[in-house]
Amino acid sequence: MAAKTRIEMQGKVAHLILDDPDEKLNTLGQAMIEEIGQQLAALKADASVEAVVIRSGKASGFLAGANLNELQALSASKDPVKDGYEAAKAGQALMNLVEDLGKPTVAAVHGPALGGGCEITLACTARVAALDSARIGLPEIQLGILPGFGGSYRLPRLLTHATALPIILNSTNLDARRALKAGLVDDVCPAQQLAEVAQALALSLLKPGTRQRLAAARHAKQPWMNRALEMGPLKAIVFRQARQGVLAKTHGAYPAPLKALEVIQAHSADRAASLEREAQGLGQLLATDASRNLVRLFFLGQDAKKQAGGVKGATVARVTVVGAGFMGSGIAIPLVTKAKLPTALKESNLEVLGKALKKIREHLGKAVAKRRLTPTEAAQQFNLLRPGAESADLACTDLVIEAVPEILGLKHKVFAELEAHVRPDAILASNTSTLPIGDIAAQAQRPERFVGMHFFSPAEVMPLVEVIPGPKTSPQAVATVVELTLKLGKTPVVVKDSPGFLVNRILLPYILEAVQMVDEGVPVERVEKAALRFGMPVGPIKLIGEVGVPVILHVFSILEQHFGDHLPQPAWFKKKEFPDAFMRDAAGRMQVQAALIQGWVGKADPGYSDQDIQDRLFLVMLNEGARALAEGLVPEPGLLDLAMIYGTGFPPYRGGLLREADRRGLAACVKRLEAFSAQAPWLKPSAGLVAAAVKGAYY
Ligand SMILES: NC(=O)c1ccc[n+]([C@@H]2O[C@H](COP(=O)([O-])OP(=O)(O)OC[C@H]3O[C@@H](n4cnc5c(N)ncnc54)[C@H](O)[C@@H]3O)[C@@H](O)[C@H]2O)c1
Repeated sequence: MAAKTRIEMQGKVAHLILDDPDEKLNTLGQAMIEEIGQQLAALKADASVEAVVIRSGKASGFLAGANLNELQALSASKDPVKDGYEAAKAGQALMNLVEDLGKPTVAAVHGPALGGGCEITLACTARVAALDSARIGLPEIQLGILPGFGGSYRLPRLLTHATALPIILNSTNLDARRALKAGLVDDVCPAQQLAEVAQALALSLLKPGTRQRLAAARHAKQPWMNRALEMGPLKAIVFRQARQGVLAKTHGAYPAPLKALEVIQAHSADRAASLEREAQGLGQLLATDASRNLVRLFFLGQDAKKQAGGVKGATVARVTVVGAGFMGSGIAIPLVTKAKLPTALKESNLEVLGKALKKIREHLGKAVAKRRLTPTEAAQQFNLLRPGAESADLACTDLVIEAVPEILGLKHKVFAELEAHVRPDAILASNTSTLPIGDIAAQAQRPERFVGMHFFSPAEVMPLVEVIPGPKTSPQAVATVVELTLKLGKTPVVVKDSPGFLVNRILLPYILEAVQMVDEGVPVERVEKAALRFGMPVGPIKLIGEVGVPVILHVFSILEQHFGDHLPQPAWFKKKEFPDAFMRDAAGRMQVQAALIQGWVGKADPGYSDQDIQDRLFLVMLNEGARALAEGLVPEPGLLDLAMIYGTGFPPYRGGLLREADRRGLAACVKRLEAFSAQAPWLKPSAGLVAAAVKGAYY
């Protein structure tokens, strides 16, 4: 096997260079751990080596963390608790070797240094990061585990608990500037100078006093309050608050952050005992369903990148957004902040255009206030926007995203004008939520370049984009939009052109089921709480107000035309006063007018159990998801699960709609639906679900 590392000597400093020829990005798999270990042992024994720099030879970055294929294999093993524990011990032994080398060590980071990649830097004497590219952090909680190679022990000791806990619990990645400010790195420099700066830092560490000076600088960077909270009983406050924060966010559904808190709180200056506890914690978490589902979600996200089937998209260097209303202005944000593309905003209403620019400026202003961007970077991003789009702008646009109101005639008119001005090879994407792409492209000169690019609201936040090819869309148009979606930092799911596409088709019956239960007399709060306890991010009734009553009613009217045979008809949903039930308070928060609704319904609480409410909400989505899958809206169950998690916030720890169905057993789901359908005929199990139940499972 080819070597994954090499040594380059620069005088008395050895540069240990991580460069795995078998991987695009270095990962810390078993073989890499062993090889780094052997190299370090040799460097320790070599008297001519006085200091060591650890850096990467790959342009893609330092070290992306544990090898997730190996992690997945561990969690699927017969004894994940034991195997996870042993894997942690092996990683910890490597980090101890770095820490105990007896010679100064400097980690020089560009690109990602995540998980194990971050943990190796924590074991070094000092760290330096490349401006622009470095991303350092411990994302393990996001994978349902905890930092198991010493990170849970070393990070709080390096930075204080008050600084370190949020980084661990929120899986925060720090860029070079934020890492410097937090004390996580000791210096930053442009990427081209990284090796040189690391070399100088390593040499300076050979001089007496440097180590102490760096430690003092790190200490001084911690806010005084965080330092004060390190002392004795005050530390308990930090843990109590962190625990409350976790419970408020997760309702206790995720074992990893709670376990991490328990493990970190029990750590002491005794390294061996602390690491032992950490390794045990990792093993226990690897055996949880939540971790299996979260690791799988990562792989589903990787699979989603390959949906263009090997077709290469066209280069997109300039974009025009047509319609800068609620969606268009939101779509422009990741275009300039993430993809950093020059973006023209074509909007017929000048006042709306002004509001769009204000919204984008405020968004950037918040990033500056949170120190995620410097004022210069924010100004550069804002300057990528071009209000208004003349014919000359359109002529050099590579891709247009249309977000004008949902009226077919208007969309035809807009696209006819666009086709007259854009280049023949420019891609035309529509953010329609309900109109078939085939209908939008029906009058087009070149229907092969029309494609649906369905963002979810708010577009600057929601991570999913449904990509919808019409009947004549070219594979290259699909590939272009898939690639652009990834550049926006979002996840694409390619969906067949069908009413409501995928996510709204499943989400609307769920919302309607909640409305229906309220119509049967269940208090609004009980329905909302049951959904939140299931793990949904917002209650289904409040969601109506958040998405907007007109949008919900519009999507309903479209879906009713096609799927009315299995949708309930709750009376209060049809009332003309229905919008009055959703009001924003002075601070702009959505307040559902529960008493008003209860007054309209006027029925006694039927006393359904929480389980019944949750089951109806879940099973109605499953039933529709099964139909969608049977109709081939997406080719793989995994893509449906991914779309539901990223499009609706379906609880990630459950792994998605179909994964959750498998956990419950499809036969049991069918049986439960049959029982409900005696009273609620629209809940009759769909043919798609029954067929899947006969097969046994989706996965
Ligand atoms: N609102 C949502 O939650 C949501 C979610 C996903 C998709 N969508 C879809 O996005 C699209 C836009 O929805 P929205 O909520 O942003 O609507 P909106 O009314 O907020 O914005 C539409 C904008 O288009 C402008 N416009 C109209 N004709 C134009 C023209 N010829 N040239 C340039 N601008 C023109 C209008 O002035 C308006 O500002 C619709 O197709 C909708 O179905 C909406």
